[in-house]
Amino acid sequence: MTPIGPAQESLQHWSAVAPAWESYRDRLFQEARPVSERLVDEVDPQPGQTVLEVTAGPGETGFLAARRLGPTGRLISSDFVPAMVEAAQRGAERQGLDNVECRVLDAQQIDLPDDSVDGVLSRFGLMLVPEQERAMGEIRRVLRPGGRFAYATWGPPDRNPWLFQIVLALLQNGHAPPGDPFAPGGVFSLSAPDRNRELATAGGFTDVEVEEVTGVMRFDSPDDYWTFNTSVAGPVAQLVASLDADQVGAIRATLGPSLAPFEQDGKLEMPWLSVVTRAA
Ligand SMILES: C[S@@+](CC[C@H](N)C(=O)[O-])C[C@H]1O[C@@H](n2cnc3c(N)ncnc32)[C@H](O)[C@@H]1O
Repeated sequence: MTPIGPAQESLQHWSAVAPAWESYRDRLFQEARPVSERLVDEVDPQPGQTVLEVTAGPGETGFLAARRLGPTGRLISSDFVPAMVEAAQRGAERQGLDNVECRVLDAQQIDLPDDSVDGVLSRFGLMLVPEQERAMGEIRRVLRPGGRFAYATWGPPDRNPWLFQIVLALLQNGHAPPGDPFAPGGVFSLSAPDRNRELATAGGFTDVEVEEVTGVMRFDSPDDYWTFNTSVAGPVAQLVASLDADQVGAIRATLGPSLAPFEQDGKLEMPWLSVVTRAA
């Protein structure tokens, strides 16, 4: 599978961080688990049905659905990074799930027949897709009539300081992560509820609901914040990996005071806000 257009650059970024996503898989899942549970509730998988997860990463959100699908149902867990798909395969085996099929799929060109799945899930992936309307149309195409799509994106930067502060510190030191974070493919491109309503409607969905889910991201220390984010945040991780020790030191010096308001007894608690869209 060759991803189309600007997705090729994104494929490189996410391939590079796939090993970190596997090692941090439990933490990445648990820190925003309420979002995964909401998505699965919205899709409401029934025994015997087929559910597709796109942009699945190591797959944990879909695995919640797989448990509800039972032995006669099937979860298709997919991502466009082969190493993420392999991580999902290992995760499904580790959890003893034998109704999971792991596949390499680009959300912009889903290699599945029309009307072939009963539900579609995506947690924190659709905003990273450059051709979002095309992806939405593909999801609508593979869904059976009456099927539901539920997906989550990150809300605006001021409600997601855990994500924004590191980007801000990079920018303040003259290092811009690739791409516009507010343009399609950027991490904040689907942060506004109205944009999600428009996108789902443009993709052919007629019944669209958008809600916000909030939570807190916990870090053991500012060092932990730095290591975690520079390991898993695709484009940021690649940018930081290209910098020398002095440049990293300068960024961390800028970051220190902006993390201080979230610090207590050396640990950090940083709020997050996710936008959850359900479309049928
Ligand atoms: C932020 S991670 C989220 C992973 C997982 N869904 C979670 O919530 O933990 C985004 C994932 O989207 C995948 N991705 C980005 N663009 C994609 C595309 N065009 N098609 C399929 N997967 C894509 C990346 O490889 C990465 O695994």
